[in-house]
Amino acid sequence: MSTIYFDSQHSAPVRRANILGGDIYVFSARPSTRAFVDFARDLASKAFTPHNPCDAQHHMPAEEFAAILSELKPRFMHDPKVKEQMRAIFKDFGEDPEQLFFDVPRMRSMTHGDYLRTGIALAVPPHRDTWFAGHQAQLNWWFPVSGVEPGNTMVFHPGYFNRGVDNVSGRYNHQQWLEKSRAEAAQHIKSDTRPLPEIRQEIDTSSDIRIQCEEGGLLLFSASHLHSTSPNNTGHTRFSVDFRTVNLEDVVSGQGAPNVDNESAGTTLGEYLRFSDSSPIPESIVAAQG
Ligand SMILES: [Fe+2]
Repeated sequence: MSTIYFDSQHSAPVRRANILGGDIYVFSARPSTRAFVDFARDLASKAFTPHNPCDAQHHMPAEEFAAILSELKPRFMHDPKVKEQMRAIFKDFGEDPEQLFFDVPRMRSMTHGDYLRTGIALAVPPHRDTWFAGHQAQLNWWFPVSGVEPGNTMVFHPGYFNRGVDNVSGRYNHQQWLEKSRAEAAQHIKSDTRPLPEIRQEIDTSSDIRIQCEEGGLLLFSASHLHSTSPNNTGHTRFSVDFRTVNLEDVVSGQGAPNVDNESAGTTLGEYLRFSDSSPIPESIVAAQG
């Protein structure tokens, strides 16, 4: 059973412990989250000018749309202003500057229908982020930006937080994936032949939850929640942004969501940076998690 907390005043440690137990936290828009989301929306608006980003797919070929996204998404990811906005969010939410580590923020989009059939804006079947070598203590911070509504948003399958599903996460090795990606980037080639984790069964969707919050709001949840993205039939593209965090004390002490079916190898922790000074997680700790 998962509890959904709205605008909770819990301290960061209590919140984190509840989230690692399967609870989901929802927050209304507030100045720190609004600044982050406004920046993302402005970047997207500029990239698609003169079109509204949510409607642009109706005004250009898919190749052109994908080309704009492939420039927009890394620009958001690497803009130094975004890291400052993330720090303001962490401060606002009472996170410990020395113990909290974050990875790069990502902008996601999902177009209506089958406009983009593969790759950059694909609908996502049920999965846990931990299947992609996310740590069991990983928290996901997810923010709707534009056009998000129940017909295109993230879907939680909370009944599976403590119940394993048949999957092939065991074929994912993060270190191998990084090496292959680097090699492919160096050769300027692109292939979709990487062995990614996948669910291998039908799931009971009768207790699915879609949480709709306003732009600038926040969903905060365990990376171990089974979740998916519904096919988008709303008539427009939706945009969201997200990033992941871990608390180093959790990593070191072995606190985390229960591992019910994750068999991935390696760890993403080598990519995380400290809230206070952007230093990485010490190598010895990362190595012990892989
Ligand atoms: Fe995910």
